[in-house]
Amino acid sequence: MELCTTVTAIRELVTAWKKAGLRIAVVPTMGYLHEGHLSLMRIARQNADRVVTTIFVNPTQFGPTEDLEKYPRDLKRDQQLCEEVGVDAIFHPVPAEMYAPDFSTWVTEGSLSQTLCGAFRPIHFRGVCTVCLKLFNITLADVAVFGRKDAQQALVIERMVRDLNIPIQIIQAPLVREADGLALSSRNKYLAAEERTRALALSRGLRAAQAKFDAGERNAQALKDAVLAELTPAADSIDYVDVMARATLRPIETVDQPALLAIAAYIGKTRLIDNLFLD
Ligand code: PAF
Repeated sequence: MELCTTVTAIRELVTAWKKAGLRIAVVPTMGYLHEGHLSLMRIARQNADRVVTTIFVNPTQFGPTEDLEKYPRDLKRDQQLCEEVGVDAIFHPVPAEMYAPDFSTWVTEGSLSQTLCGAFRPIHFRGVCTVCLKLFNITLADVAVFGRKDAQQALVIERMVRDLNIPIQIIQAPLVREADGLALSSRNKYLAAEERTRALALSRGLRAAQAKFDAGERNAQALKDAVLAELTPAADSIDYVDVMARATLRPIETVDQPALLAIAAYIGKTRLIDNLFLD
């Protein structure tokens, strides 16, 4: 497995692969890898001849008061995990390799990115879209794999790819949970033991909503109430519990189309997200 830290180095590698007619998959990550990331890499492996994982804590998607500096990092461990799942190359640039001091070109998705997390993290999706387009261009990937844990992110990226005619296939991969229901996230590392117990309220709430939905409940408020009954006593604050149409990420009152029940809440100082697809 190659470790490339410059655009020139990864470009040389992927260009050779392209010349040999190989199909390339990219899995963009910010590192501190967990089983959720590894599942994306395995899916990438099944859909391409070569897999590139990018490990880059992208500064442009963090707001001024967010956790950029303390975001967990462990390249050695990440390298080992990537090797184990058969990744062919890691692209791990420093911020200066990705952003020139006078960097001034941004990708802004103007609809799906405005609600849910976008309403609370105003520059987040601009940073995500911009870095992902750069990573697609740098790795010359034919396919990219994104996890449904960040459901809004996956939908925003799909929209960007469609709108800008980017020649890449986007695969959305299932969300991966711990045995007790907690959605896997690099940020789970921030949780103290007592906070981790409280964090289970997110998945418990979603399970309660799923049970209601399976029993025929289609009223969005009733589904949100099922989540809130679990989440309100456990969370320190709640950014949102929303039922959105998946096509538009706008709120709906009745689940009569593919929908997303999405949560963002703080447990202690840690902002956690989780979601459920309602079909
Ligand atoms: O989901 C993430 O880890 C990041 O938002 C991504 C897609 C790697 C872009 O920095």
